[in-house]
Amino acid sequence: MLKEIHDQPQAVQVCLEHYLPTSYSALHTPYSSSLTAFLCDLNEVHIFACGSSYHAGLIAQYWIEQLAGIPVRIRSGSEFQEAPLPMSANTLMIGITQSGETADTLNAIALDKQRRAAQSPAFQPHLLGITNQPASALSKLVDWTLPTLAGTEIGVAATKTFMNQLIVCFYLALELALVCQAIAHEKIQIHHAELYALPAKIRAVLELEIQIKNIAQEWVNQQHCIVLGRGINRAIALEGALKLKETTYIHAEGYGAGEFMHGPIALLDARIPVIAIAPTDSTHAAMIANLRKVKSHGSPIIGILTEDAAPETISLLDHALILPAIANPLFPILSVIPLQLLAYHIAVQRGLNVDKPRNITKTLSDQ
Ligand code: F6R
Repeated sequence: MLKEIHDQPQAVQVCLEHYLPTSYSALHTPYSSSLTAFLCDLNEVHIFACGSSYHAGLIAQYWIEQLAGIPVRIRSGSEFQEAPLPMSANTLMIGITQSGETADTLNAIALDKQRRAAQSPAFQPHLLGITNQPASALSKLVDWTLPTLAGTEIGVAATKTFMNQLIVCFYLALELALVCQAIAHEKIQIHHAELYALPAKIRAVLELEIQIKNIAQEWVNQQHCIVLGRGINRAIALEGALKLKETTYIHAEGYGAGEFMHGPIALLDARIPVIAIAPTDSTHAAMIANLRKVKSHGSPIIGILTEDAAPETISLLDHALILPAIANPLFPILSVIPLQLLAYHIAVQRGLNVDKPRNITKTLSDQ
């Protein structure tokens, strides 16, 4: 797992060079005229995924809605059978699964495909798969596959595959924005430069490892932990809590920081530490107000901040992890890394087999 966490700068570089070459400024994929017509006329995007891939889907939802202006619905593959999304016309369905073999996700896609096949032309299935295994069962179900190119991931906990799912999802959001003419050429250039700055910024975040290892030493006997994020970082709060649960067996829960105030805050006392993802962006003031309340209940707080954080913010915290500043929509790509490292180091200090956590396997297929 540690090797795979440290593989991330290189994995991202490979993915960027594949999808967003230096010359990227217009549509990269040579779409057929019928596909371009379909994408121009999209009413909705539906995403199916489970676990970490579901969290990547939540971030994709934010990016596609904000960059391309297309409404996105997301449903866990494991819930689709009980509660299928209402069928909408001119809809692109996206399955996200690193293994390409997760039965819940594949069954949801197959069910949606089957019920749409009997409908009129506007409702016919158009399916895109995002996977680290292009030769998997997913690719046989979908019309197009976008490989995440993360290389082999052996650790059960998804790290670099999650990271590259994010890169591919951002690329997809840009492509949809381009085809819908929802984004200016200059903005594409800005995003392109920000993306290519990522490998160096990821390396800078990895340099926080010693600080994180020391925090892990301090937190090794914690029984519970809350992870808070706002806006796009809510999905990283969920992902960070999942990493902690599956590798350390700490009871960790991720919340949107605003929603946390509506009841769950009753859990807090000095024995329940809180990790807050709090970049200096439009969500910052509200997050700081939330953290003042958290502090008043005695909970120790780790803040995942950006380098422009104010001294008053840092003084609220027991530990401040300072990340490089980055445009708001891309912060999840950096903020997930300290949570991966914290989960890894707590698990190792607890003497656990971090690569093969109990009760779970890398792929939850039907076999
Ligand atoms: C978490 C993890 C699982 C998977 C989930 C879906 O670290 O690995 O939550 O994300 O089982 O797996 P894939 O992406 O293969 O569909």
